[in-house]
Amino acid sequence: MRKKIVVGNWKMNKSFDEGLKLIDEIVKELASQPADNVLKIIAPSFLHLAAASQKLKSLKGFETAAQNCHHIANGAYTGEIAAAMIASTGADYVIIGHSERRLYFGENNALLAQKVNIALANNLTPIFCLGENLEERNAKQHLEAVKQQLKEGLYHLTAADFSRLIIAYEPVWAIGTGVTASIHQAQGMHNYIRSEINKKYGKDISSIIPILYGGSCNAQNAKELFACIDVDGGLIGGASLKAVDFAAIINSFSE
Ligand code: PGA
Repeated sequence: MRKKIVVGNWKMNKSFDEGLKLIDEIVKELASQPADNVLKIIAPSFLHLAAASQKLKSLKGFETAAQNCHHIANGAYTGEIAAAMIASTGADYVIIGHSERRLYFGENNALLAQKVNIALANNLTPIFCLGENLEERNAKQHLEAVKQQLKEGLYHLTAADFSRLIIAYEPVWAIGTGVTASIHQAQGMHNYIRSEINKKYGKDISSIIPILYGGSCNAQNAKELFACIDVDGGLIGGASLKAVDFAAIINSFSE
């Protein structure tokens, strides 16, 4: 049985106080419907990370993630945050390769491979994002695009290290657009990713890697997405900023 996971990616939102309040609201919202079988990961901004980790560490089933890390251990990189610094806050996860990082900050697969390495070296679990853009989807090159991201970002890893990952499939055209991948598109790609991992690392590993769906996932569509056999949960942007919606998504797994 693979883990069921829901990650809330706050992106560049919430003041310090608003962020801590949102965490309290999420915890409160889930008190009556705790979804004990679901791992709940909150990825606030760096500003909130230490305080969020402190707040959540005593609560069962909650974890925190950073949204990014630098690819070098430490040094004169003004404004950057190292994996070791993230680990020192108590966070155990880090999102790597989000399409906004790839698009707006020019992060390519080679750089992301280094970020994955430094995250793993610091005992952080990478939540590695991949997904095709609209052009690639329209040109029917989506499988190839995702395969390349897998290959160049992750296939340098040993089997032991690869088995520590969480993967998030996020079609770029679905992120923040209100357009969600259909069940058919989501399950099709998740199944493809799993079969590619199977080819490279074998069934023991491909069958345990959680693959999350991201892209306009919300309280209305989460249930049918999470019911797909190869969809193990979601990476949630916009809908993770409202406690009621986020809790509803967490409670969307069918038994
Ligand atoms: P969205 O973002 O849920 O707002 O589409 C998802 C993500 O970017 O992780």
